Amino acid sequence: MDNNKAITPRHFLDLDDFSYATLRSILDLAIELKTKLKNGEHPSLLNNKILAMIFEQTSTRTRISFDVGMRQLGGETIMLAGADMQLAKDETLSDTAQVMSRYVDAIMIRILSHDDLLELARSSSIPVINGLTRRSHPCQVMADIMTYEEHRGSIKGIKVTWLGDANNVLLSWIHAAKIFDVELTISVPNEYSPDQGMLADISQAGNNIKLNSNPNEAVKNADLVMTDTWVSMGDKDVDQRLKILAPYQVDKNIMAKANENALFMHCLPAHRGHEVTSDVIDGAQSVVFDEAENRLHIQKAILCYVFGIEKLN
Ligand code: CP
Ligand code: NVA
Repeated sequence: MDNNKAITPRHFLDLDDFSYATLRSILDLAIELKTKLKNGEHPSLLNNKILAMIFEQTSTRTRISFDVGMRQLGGETIMLAGADMQLAKDETLSDTAQVMSRYVDAIMIRILSHDDLLELARSSSIPVINGLTRRSHPCQVMADIMTYEEHRGSIKGIKVTWLGDANNVLLSWIHAAKIFDVELTISVPNEYSPDQGMLADISQAGNNIKLNSNPNEAVKNADLVMTDTWVSMGDKDVDQRLKILAPYQVDKNIMAKANENALFMHCLPAHRGHEVTSDVIDGAQSVVFDEAENRLHIQKAILCYVFGIEKLN
């Protein structure tokens, strides 16, 4: 708890708020924490800290992994459904943030509007973590990078191909491409191409990003093939999306055009038969459950970071 507004809290809102060095140190800490956990060690780094989690939308991974992660570090959690709070009626985000800052030590929130996330963070004197907005999903992409590096070594210079919808997970990958020096090829249909906001982030990333609406070409030489649901939280045009995005399904033929040892990733939840076929997501190149596990380890390191702990000891 900290109601001293003179101290700027360490939020975790978007990857492009951070330097390479900071994100790398979070990844290093995540690996250390994972190793310790596997050895049965539970460093109580967040004793007496309370994380409040607000979910305006459904979640399995984010909800459970933050809850378990906080407990493994000696802290506690409070789970709040946005619909049960006065926020859902007419209390402002600013008042909510100021009140919560008097009770708990950090907030993790899943909320559709990124502007609302930013407003909450501006009014909060405790750290706020982005657990997914319509714009971005930074915790997910940190877990993805950790997973790639565990399987194949440094992510620097690899070729990542994103197929399907231009959504929140992709935006965090666009940020990561510049920071980690990854070549990201985005293959999306013209009807669901990046909006103005995403195009601005793409142009910031410069030469690291390529757009190619032909999925067969885009996937050539890929070291990592990624997709996500065609219908994200808040999307309404479901039937049209399923039809227009169908040519971007990741199947065996697409994977065969990538590098022989390419990995397949998906943040989950997945829709077999839509964005990915069962033989790919359940096949040898898929690391989706390692990605899901690593949400736990990377978020423990993110929690440590927002509380000012960057190293063990
Ligand atoms: N990938 C992810 O954020 O999953 P949940 O929606 O289950 O939290
Ligand atoms: N793009 C998806 C991610 C779910 C974790 C969504 O926003 O629904």
